[in-house]
Amino acid sequence: MEIVKTVEAMQRTSEALRLAGKTIAFVPTMGFLHEGHLELMRVGKAHADTLVVSIFVNPTQFGPSEDYDRYPRDTEGDLAKARAVGADIVFFPAREEMYPDGFQTRVQVERVTRNLCGTARPGHFDGVAVVVAKLFNIVKPHLAVFGQKDYQQLTVISRMTADLNMDIQIVGVPTVREPDGLAMSSRNKYLNPEERQSALCLRKSMDLAETMFREGERDALAVRQAIEALINDHPHTRIDYVSLCDSTTLEDVARLGDETLLALAVKVGATRLIDNRLIRD
Ligand code: PAF
Repeated sequence: MEIVKTVEAMQRTSEALRLAGKTIAFVPTMGFLHEGHLELMRVGKAHADTLVVSIFVNPTQFGPSEDYDRYPRDTEGDLAKARAVGADIVFFPAREEMYPDGFQTRVQVERVTRNLCGTARPGHFDGVAVVVAKLFNIVKPHLAVFGQKDYQQLTVISRMTADLNMDIQIVGVPTVREPDGLAMSSRNKYLNPEERQSALCLRKSMDLAETMFREGERDALAVRQAIEALINDHPHTRIDYVSLCDSTTLEDVARLGDETLLALAVKVGATRLIDNRLIRD
């Protein structure tokens, strides 16, 4: 496995692969790899000749009061995991390599960033869009793999790729979960044992919504209120949002249709967790 640290070297390597007729799959990450990331890598590997993984904690997607400085990092562990899964190249740039002095470009995807985490984390998706656009230009992949756990992020990237005519296939992969249903996330490691127990309120909320839907409930407010009551019953929780929205536009709906996205963001202790499920027949 090759480790590439500069933009120029990564672009040269990718260009050579393309000229040799090789296809490139790309998995962008912020490191502290867990089983969810490894699944994205396996999917990437199965779809292309070469798998490139990037590890870069992107400062532009963190708000001023968020956890950029304390975001977990484990370079040695990450490299070992990427190697074990069969990554061919790890792109591992320094902050100044990605954002040199004078950097001033923004990439803004509009409507699908207004609700959910876009409201709760202003500017977050501008940071995600700009870094992913840059990474796409650096790695030059044929396809890029993202987790459905970050449903809004996947929507934003798909929109950006289509709107800017980027010739890259975007592949979404179902969320990988712990045996009790908690979605895998690098932030889970912040949870103490009591909070870890309370964090199950996300999975229980999605089960509850599905049950209510199956029993005929279509009123989004009724489902939302039931979920809020369930979450508030769990200690150490603070709801950021509970949203029932259109799975394409991500705008809130008043009634559940054939397919509705339930998206949740809940602070458990100091840790903000997100999850989602498509509620449908
Ligand atoms: O999902 C993530 O880890 C990040 O948002 C991404 C896509 C790597 C961009 O920094």
